[in-house]
Amino acid sequence: MRMRIIGTGSYVPGRTVTNDDLAKIVETSDEWIRTRTGIGSRHISDGPGTAFMAAEAAKKAMESAGVEPEDIDLILVGTTTADHCFPSTACEVQGMLGAVRAVGYDISAACSGFIFALNTADALMKSGACRTALIIGADNLSKIVDWTDRSTCVLFGDGAGAVVAQGCESEEAGLMAMNMGSDGRKASVLECQSRTMGNFLTEKGPELGYITMEGQEVFKFAVKKVPECILKALADSGEDIEEIKYFVLHQANYRICESIAKRLKVPMDRIPMNIERYGNTSGATIPVLLDELNREGKLTPGDKLMLAGFGAGLTWGASLIRW
Ligand code: COA
Repeated sequence: MRMRIIGTGSYVPGRTVTNDDLAKIVETSDEWIRTRTGIGSRHISDGPGTAFMAAEAAKKAMESAGVEPEDIDLILVGTTTADHCFPSTACEVQGMLGAVRAVGYDISAACSGFIFALNTADALMKSGACRTALIIGADNLSKIVDWTDRSTCVLFGDGAGAVVAQGCESEEAGLMAMNMGSDGRKASVLECQSRTMGNFLTEKGPELGYITMEGQEVFKFAVKKVPECILKALADSGEDIEEIKYFVLHQANYRICESIAKRLKVPMDRIPMNIERYGNTSGATIPVLLDELNREGKLTPGDKLMLAGFGAGLTWGASLIRW
């Protein structure tokens, strides 16, 4: 049995923050941000949290798939910015949707979260544990960004993307190959400590964690690992790279995607980009981009798409799907 995506949806908060807006709070410029990253603006939430955005994206995906909340038997959310330590975002989304038959839980793989969730759902579907899954990537990074650190705060935005996937018997569609990896030795390259509360033994007060990053290390890792995992997925499936219509890549930096394209010898017109409007929305970038391609009518049955991402952990992964 193969897992096939039958609907997509996405949500971003209404409030847009431009590079010029950020230049008012940190020493930066539209020119620096655009040339180094490709980002022009991002959507920032002024209230609604991760679960709300995830549920809004999920509603649209369910509508596009033509399924009801009661049809869903699995909800996976790739996120690192859950609104609560517990319950999980997936359980909150389940409550908001009334998906009473589902089991829900979160997957923590930072910007690789959606890919990890998609691949996990495929494995669960193959095992027979579920038939209709809601797979979401959602993050509210604006809440954990240090807004005085210009080297990170200009990069990120908030948003959510979702797909509904169902098991199908046909070999003509669905997830064809996947892989994932992580290297915990590189954890400190990109991290955000949790909120830590001392206890009566340490007499420490609460401390809030913010994102810290060694940008060039992440850049080097991404341009090496992403092509590797894409080539592995192609080799495992026996597909030729020329057969891939679009490479739907994690939107972290335009230049990273350009480097990946160069290494794979693939022209940029097969690497759709929307980072200019959203920045890096972490777990949401890939499903938001997929939803845009779907809604713009750019996907037709039989198209082969390579989804691939990377993020803190460090983590990376790819999913090769036939639409
Ligand atoms: N505006 C203006 N100047 C800035 C700036 C900003 N927003 N951020 C950093 N700078 C400065 C630095 O302080 C540095 O100044 P210095 O030379 O006086 O020390 C200079 O710009 C160059 O910084 P550097 O870090 O070398 O720039 P870079 O070309 O590596 O670009 C990133 C920085 C973050 C854009 C780039 O490394 C990157 O995209 N890395 C990957 C990050 C990523 O994808 N993270 C998410 C992973 S999921």
